[in-house]
Amino acid sequence: MSERRRILVTSALPYANGPIHLGHLVEYIQTDIWVRFQKSRGHEVHYVCADDAHGTAIMLKAEQNGVSPEAQIAAVKAEHESDFAGFGIHFDNYHSTHSEENRADSSYIYLKNRDGGHIATRPIRQLFDPEKQMFLADRFIKGDCPKCGALDQYGDSCEVCGATYSPTELKNPRSTISGATPVEKESLHYFFKLPDFAAFLQDRTRSGRLQPEVANKLDEWFEAGLTDWDISRDAPYFGFEIPDAPGKYFYVWVDAPIGYMASFRNLCARRPDLRFDDFWAPGAPTELYHFIGKDIVYFHALFWPAMLYGAGYRAPSAIFAHGFLTVNGQKMSKSRGTFIKARSYLDQLNPEYLRYYFAAKLSGSVEDIDLNLEDFQFRVNSDLVGKVVNIASRCAGFISKRFDGKLSAHCAEPALLNDFIHTGHGIAQHYENRDFGRAVREIMTLADRANQYIDEKKPWALAKDPAREAEVQEVCSVGLNLFRQLITYLAPILPAMAAASRDFLDLSDLDWSSRETLLLGHAIKPFAPLMTRVEKEKVDAMVDASKESLAPVAEVATLPATATAGKAKAGAGAGAAPAKAGAADDGLAPEIGIEDFMKIDLRVAKIVNAQHVDGADKLLQLTLDIGEDKPRNVFAGIKSAYPEPEKLVGRLTVMVANLAPRKMKFGMSEGMVMAAGPGGADIFILSPDEGATPGMKVK
Ligand code: 2FM
Ligand code: ZN
Repeated sequence: MSERRRILVTSALPYANGPIHLGHLVEYIQTDIWVRFQKSRGHEVHYVCADDAHGTAIMLKAEQNGVSPEAQIAAVKAEHESDFAGFGIHFDNYHSTHSEENRADSSYIYLKNRDGGHIATRPIRQLFDPEKQMFLADRFIKGDCPKCGALDQYGDSCEVCGATYSPTELKNPRSTISGATPVEKESLHYFFKLPDFAAFLQDRTRSGRLQPEVANKLDEWFEAGLTDWDISRDAPYFGFEIPDAPGKYFYVWVDAPIGYMASFRNLCARRPDLRFDDFWAPGAPTELYHFIGKDIVYFHALFWPAMLYGAGYRAPSAIFAHGFLTVNGQKMSKSRGTFIKARSYLDQLNPEYLRYYFAAKLSGSVEDIDLNLEDFQFRVNSDLVGKVVNIASRCAGFISKRFDGKLSAHCAEPALLNDFIHTGHGIAQHYENRDFGRAVREIMTLADRANQYIDEKKPWALAKDPAREAEVQEVCSVGLNLFRQLITYLAPILPAMAAASRDFLDLSDLDWSSRETLLLGHAIKPFAPLMTRVEKEKVDAMVDASKESLAPVAEVATLPATATAGKAKAGAGAGAAPAKAGAADDGLAPEIGIEDFMKIDLRVAKIVNAQHVDGADKLLQLTLDIGEDKPRNVFAGIKSAYPEPEKLVGRLTVMVANLAPRKMKFGMSEGMVMAAGPGGADIFILSPDEGATPGMKVK
């Protein structure tokens, strides 16, 4: 075997305020497969992770639940660990960022950087909730857009006109936590001087170890110029106090990556054979890899190596970013039942189906991957049950019944077996490059060949002729040896099926190199089904259980408030509370009397044209016929739900016809169309019943 590598691997730390869902699992499954592969190659690998336990969101969540933050994070950690275990994800250590190791490491890294001159302080003005007595992050402030006047916009950007601004510019701001009107207040903040590390970071980017898309992104950031990073938050904050700054806390993103290190330190404490410095000292002859989602590259490719370097530690060997998960081609959605929690999946389906499906889709690039539930069922059934397991089940019975479980003492098809063994070199290379999809394709090509071999030899026909008894044993032994090759290659993806197969084949392990010794004269155990088919009813039950009913109230404005609901990111951050949607505010409008209602002129409108708006992420421009001489021009924030505007043309909808025209960045909006739904892909424009004609009054 080639030299034994020593590798430390991490996956992004999930936030301790929400459950693991399928979006997260892309990353943990990807990492776990890679780690299992490396282990099966005989390398020394340590896979560590932890819950990301700090921050305002977690503090508020605990408060909402009436428990201490410590109790809150302990409960979530237990859930996370059981979900991961359910999916066969094996960490060598699973810790929490709220740990003594992390407190010590975070303080040390900060102090070293401070002593190196890489920390600056300066006062900043921010909005402050006078009732809660706390500073408010942008997402905890809402108000009217300073540019277009749209109501109910978040503190950083307007979903209607796309403007970005600082929260102090919002009109009529209010705290989404207490409802109080925030006041501006000054406070001293601590900054990490990222520009000090520009040369070091640029050199690393050029080293050629980054994925090309990631390297390009970094180049853009370098071009735009690096800026100081605000690393402090004022009390009250659930986190670690900055050692030389009472009342100031490390921003959660400071101690989160340090949590990788702290989790490993915690592992070292129970493993006398492991030395922390072997993996973290500068120039350490070991490898360090972080698997992450593409949304958190900035933290891992810039802040993190810079902080490490500034503190005298080694930097990561590489970061491996992956894309987001879509389900049935769309963002995960609670109303469609495709925002599926790990537990809801496990309640119905075998976790190995999903491991296999994700593996088949993963390529080592940052492209998003799609879980198409029909394809999922088809692919697992056809590949794993129809091809792989089939080989074993076609051969095992003959060997058990007629040959007392014994395989032939010689191999009847050495060339075929050799070929299977040899193909393993290429498959290993694909695993190494995280191109699991390609590995799976090669493995399935082998499975097809194995089935073809059995089809040609027809052991069931041979078995009818007593003179050809020996051939039956030979053919089935070749079949089972081929199966053994396949299951060795699939073992990193399907640990449970591999364990059951290992047991059936009576092998001590399925390590990559063990496949080179054929099973000759070897006794196997009776065959038991290794995997059953995916049942459609179970998939449906999982989707049903994941459905949350739509908000019943039509939102008069399609535009504000809803449009960012639940971005389904894979892996890291996915757990991140959908940053905006669902936060604190329910968005209920005040009660109005009939007189107010009568003031609203609702009309049936025919969409005669619908098009994208240059420079607006969320808006479509609609031309509406309401029976007047001139059509109305309306900007509606429904692009997330209707990405192909031409499909809207010809449809009827309901509009508020007497809304005062509003000047927006992109032009004048002359009314508002009505829609319902929680946001994102789930906004449904309201259509009147058939028989309605443009201009008809809606009563
Ligand atoms: O984005 C997230 O979900 C973060 N909790 C990931 C942290 S990764 C690491 F830096 F700790
Ligand atoms: Zn605006």
